[in-house]
Amino acid sequence: MNHKSARVITIDGLASSGKTSISKKLSEKLGYYFLDSGILYRSVAYICLNESLEEDVNVLIHKLENNLEVISNENKHFTVKYLGKDISRYLYNEEIGVHASIVSQKPEIRKFLMNLQHNCVKKPGLVANGRDMGTKVFPDADFKLFIIADLDIRAKRRLKQLTDAGKEASLVKITSQLAERDKNDKNRKISPLVAPDGSVEIDSSNLNIDRILDKILELYKI
Ligand code: DC
Repeated sequence: MNHKSARVITIDGLASSGKTSISKKLSEKLGYYFLDSGILYRSVAYICLNESLEEDVNVLIHKLENNLEVISNENKHFTVKYLGKDISRYLYNEEIGVHASIVSQKPEIRKFLMNLQHNCVKKPGLVANGRDMGTKVFPDADFKLFIIADLDIRAKRRLKQLTDAGKEASLVKITSQLAERDKNDKNRKISPLVAPDGSVEIDSSNLNIDRILDKILELYKI
């Protein structure tokens, strides 16, 4: 089937639910662009922490407007540049993750990031993951997924990612950081994580990514 406009698939879920691995593979299979919206909130957290910019949200937004860019790379993955430099490598640690879930509670920041996310829609399509992709950012998406997984399984996955990357980590600490983030992300006043209307729920606790992908592709008939 030929579609005139770009298609949008949203994938929402909690931290370490497996949504990023699923989104990446799905976008590759379909030849779509891929946006992990978490990197935008992580970038804001990184900039706040580095430049102590949190006190005045207007100053922060002004700085972001002029210096934060979202661009796609050769793999059709969106990445972020700040002051012309690729900052992605600084974003994936638990401190930034927890701080991202705090800054993401500010309405001004969510509003500012909304436009950047909308600008990522490109033909033939976009797979966008996060917490509010299907509810707020792309409510008219063509297909919506909601990924769930048990807390202890998510914590073990995160521990493995960190130890594989040669970083020291403790399961107890990771579990409590994830639980804190779950609480923030589900209970915040604006755009809390909820299953979008019309979404398909997938439990990735016993993640077999290939089977999950087959299931998704079967459901997403184009
Ligand atoms: O997906 P992640 O773990 O990289 O996201 C980091 C934090 O950013 C998350 O705890 C909450 C926030 N976030 C959000 O509020 N809305 C999104 N669409 C994506 C992330």
